[in-house]
Amino acid sequence: MAATAQAQPNIALIKYWGKRDTTLNLPATGSLSITLDTLWTRTRVEFDKSLRHDELRLNGAEDPATLARVSACLDLLRHRAGSTTCARVDTRNNFPTAAGLASSASGFAALVVAADAALGLALDRRTLSVLARRGSGSAARSLFGGFASMAAGQREDGEDAFAEPLLDAAEWPLAVLIAVTSHSRKSVGSGAGMESSRHTSPFYPAWVSSAATDLAAARDAVRARDFAALAEVSEHNCLKMHAVMQASRPPLVYWSGATVDCLQRIRALREREGVEAFFTVDAGAQVKAVCPPGAVSRVAAALADIPGVERVLTSGLGEGARLVDDGEAV
Ligand code: PMV
Repeated sequence: MAATAQAQPNIALIKYWGKRDTTLNLPATGSLSITLDTLWTRTRVEFDKSLRHDELRLNGAEDPATLARVSACLDLLRHRAGSTTCARVDTRNNFPTAAGLASSASGFAALVVAADAALGLALDRRTLSVLARRGSGSAARSLFGGFASMAAGQREDGEDAFAEPLLDAAEWPLAVLIAVTSHSRKSVGSGAGMESSRHTSPFYPAWVSSAATDLAAARDAVRARDFAALAEVSEHNCLKMHAVMQASRPPLVYWSGATVDCLQRIRALREREGVEAFFTVDAGAQVKAVCPPGAVSRVAAALADIPGVERVLTSGLGEGARLVDDGEAV
């Protein structure tokens, strides 16, 4: 009744921002992402009949704020297993939590894989992707490694809103650098931020109606391994999402001054210095630069030089969520 899983965060190049249904957590836009390798979440789930309620420890400390979301996701798996047994969940991230580094993506992907095994369900990846989506939309994509795309779907029951693998990590081994400009937890979480944008941003309808075109262009670029085309559509899609956020009321400005300096520097590297690199930014102040492995040292040095950049993390592309030895340190 216990299992441990590891999942890595994914970085969306075509973003999910906005829900078409909040109960089932259905995205209004499709998305496309890359799964990292050096950053990870490890989660051990143990179902124990002696427990009166679920327990959650995040990085060694109890986390009552996140427990309700975790319990709701576990309920979906318990329901399939015909079980009402409570669980002890121990989870650890080797990177800052809730600061725009997609800890909910790796967290819920690891949770469903560990809970599935602990309950002996052996569900297929697509079903696990749907279940992870209920916890966090972006988590559906961390079930897969390399490049994954996620459909917005049209069905009201959400059964067509799952992620699918596009390319394995080894098929186009890009690198990702993360310029950490802030370690603080973001003030508005993605769920509340998306709802605010949906209800108040005048740009939201245009964002939703243009999403399929961006997704198709990015899928074509990935299939063709066309870096310049992927760079163009990814930066456009990222800035469009932030325009939607910033035009919300009250405004959602996730950037710090250093965030903007990183964006300018990455554009200068590409446009003036001939370095293949592009940026993306999620609901936080960190900037992610995507580049071929050969450009990592140039891009890392340029980002580390920017005042306000506290450190630069480097990652390749990695595998999807998977079971690890139960004894592996959590
Ligand atoms: O899955 P959530 O609720 O953490 O939302 C993810 C939102 C973005 O990171 C900004 C975009 C994305 O597609 O990952």
